[in-house]
Amino acid sequence: MAAMQNERLQAFVDEVAARTDLLQVVQAYVPLKRKGGRYWGCCPFHQEKTPSFSVEPEKGFFYCFGCHAGGNAFKFLSLIENISYFDAIKLQAEKLGIEMPRRKLSPAEEKRERERKDLLRVNEMARDFFHNCLTLTKIGEPGRAYLAKRGITEATIKAFSLGFAPPAWDKLSAAFQKRGVTEQLLLGSGLCLPRREGGGIYDRFRGRMMIPIADERGRVVGFGGRVLDDSVPKYLNTPETVLFNKRYLLFGLDRAHHAIVREGYAIIVEGYMDAIAVFGAGVENVVATLGTAFTQEHAKKLMRYATRLIFCYDSDEAGQSATIRALSILQNTGAEVSVLRVPDGKDPDEFIRKNGADAFRALTKQAVSLVDFRMEYVLSHTRHDTLSGKVQALHQMGPVFQGMRGGAMRTEYIKRLSSALMLEEDVVRDELARGTGYVEAEPARSPIRREVRRVDTALDKAGRVLIRLASEDSGKLSAAEAIVPLESVLGSVQLEIIAALKKGLPATELQGSLSDGASAELSRALVDEGLLAGRTEEEAWRDALRVLKKAYLNQQYMEHSQLAEKYLEAGNPAYRVELQRVEAIKHELEEMESV
Ligand code: UTP
Ligand code: MN
Repeated sequence: MAAMQNERLQAFVDEVAARTDLLQVVQAYVPLKRKGGRYWGCCPFHQEKTPSFSVEPEKGFFYCFGCHAGGNAFKFLSLIENISYFDAIKLQAEKLGIEMPRRKLSPAEEKRERERKDLLRVNEMARDFFHNCLTLTKIGEPGRAYLAKRGITEATIKAFSLGFAPPAWDKLSAAFQKRGVTEQLLLGSGLCLPRREGGGIYDRFRGRMMIPIADERGRVVGFGGRVLDDSVPKYLNTPETVLFNKRYLLFGLDRAHHAIVREGYAIIVEGYMDAIAVFGAGVENVVATLGTAFTQEHAKKLMRYATRLIFCYDSDEAGQSATIRALSILQNTGAEVSVLRVPDGKDPDEFIRKNGADAFRALTKQAVSLVDFRMEYVLSHTRHDTLSGKVQALHQMGPVFQGMRGGAMRTEYIKRLSSALMLEEDVVRDELARGTGYVEAEPARSPIRREVRRVDTALDKAGRVLIRLASEDSGKLSAAEAIVPLESVLGSVQLEIIAALKKGLPATELQGSLSDGASAELSRALVDEGLLAGRTEEEAWRDALRVLKKAYLNQQYMEHSQLAEKYLEAGNPAYRVELQRVEAIKHELEEMESV
């Protein structure tokens, strides 16, 4: 059966290829001129004024001497239409009127297909409904006022099809039902919710400005809705549906991908309003995650267009540690990562509103490399005035050094790191080479310090429990990361394993991709009989998270206590703020103790 299917498919592909005229395909998009045996034009995949894009119809290939894009007719179509290679074949087949041999869909598959189509249609209707409501109706007035206040232009409203959801409970549901959309579909799309009593449905999005969220092909798969005032939740998103999966979606990619290819890099921001503002400022190669961490899937998607990624997250602590997490996701993916920090304002949107589009464009030139960013972050998040702090800082720097190409760069960074930590370069080099090891605890002085030492080995075990359970379900890791920044509590060996697990490699490949130390540690986590110690997995997981959280709080406690001491000595009144923090952390620790 399968063989037969493959044969028919191959015959189909062969036929499409045989009947495809490369020159004709390309000329539908790019004007070409004949010169010698070749045709020349300006490359559609990068910006240029003199033609370096050539087509050789005889051989069936195109090639750009400028940006090195090249391939056959299908490759060309897939690049220019931003579709997969196979979809390009199908597209070309359609144009040529060749029918694709279709496997008969099972009834379940057919049902799913239909569902997807229906959802897309109702989302498109909703986008138009919200947009018309914003731009054409009296009800839309508060939405228009809000957008004007944020400096969002008519052109941007149009470009992003921004909208407004009326404040009433049933405007959309009533209008759509009148137009024959079923209750089931309205519920399935997430646009409506069931009434608690008396049956019927009501609108999910009310009194919010609406942002349609499209997949990379521009099909509306969901919405984000923002309140116009300070009420909560600030943003309401479409719940997960068959179309709407935040792990995969990047807001704005449908508009940005051409610019990403052209510029050779993508800018990633935290919120859709940031993406909209940055895009509005004329920097079009920008996408936003949708209130979730940056995932492997996001990376894969972006790296189809460019391997240079610039993170421009919020300048607050949350944004900065989210950056660190994103960076660890990208380790060993081949991405060339840098970080852009917004010096003025909480996020890119605020920066642009304060300083204008030109200032932001200038800023994009000032992204710092991953290593610089990581170094600064580690130095400001470890107590490198103590020996154990120094060692910890070195271990946290380990992974970026591992990924570093070129000896000169390595030498340079080792120099900088040793001088920042006030250590001999040789010591730094040795520690980095070892890349692993036991972090010696400080001699006990206060009760809290003793606590730190005690949790140190419990910490190793907790990390191992995490690894064991996450090796069965790597999705668990993001749940853990939502509770405690693993980067700051686990050692580099365990972090290496966790980074690898996140890639979702099958067990065999996973082992192959790890360093010796990590591979050993992973085996240990998987086989250690005593690890669960008679607990269910559920219990062990909960306990592990508690241990990690506590270690993190202890770390924070130390950090802020020391800062307070330092300020106090220097007569800096900021010590009060630090002391308050210390109190808050202590309180949180006590709370944990009491449950
Ligand atoms: P922010 O709180 O940083 O919002 O959340 P923002 O982008 O600065 O928005 P404005 O400028 O106040 O309008 C960043 C992202 O986190 C998600 C959204 O995707 C948002 O874009 N988020 C935030 C939610 O999903 N729900 C919330 O309640 C808040
Ligand atoms: Mn903002």
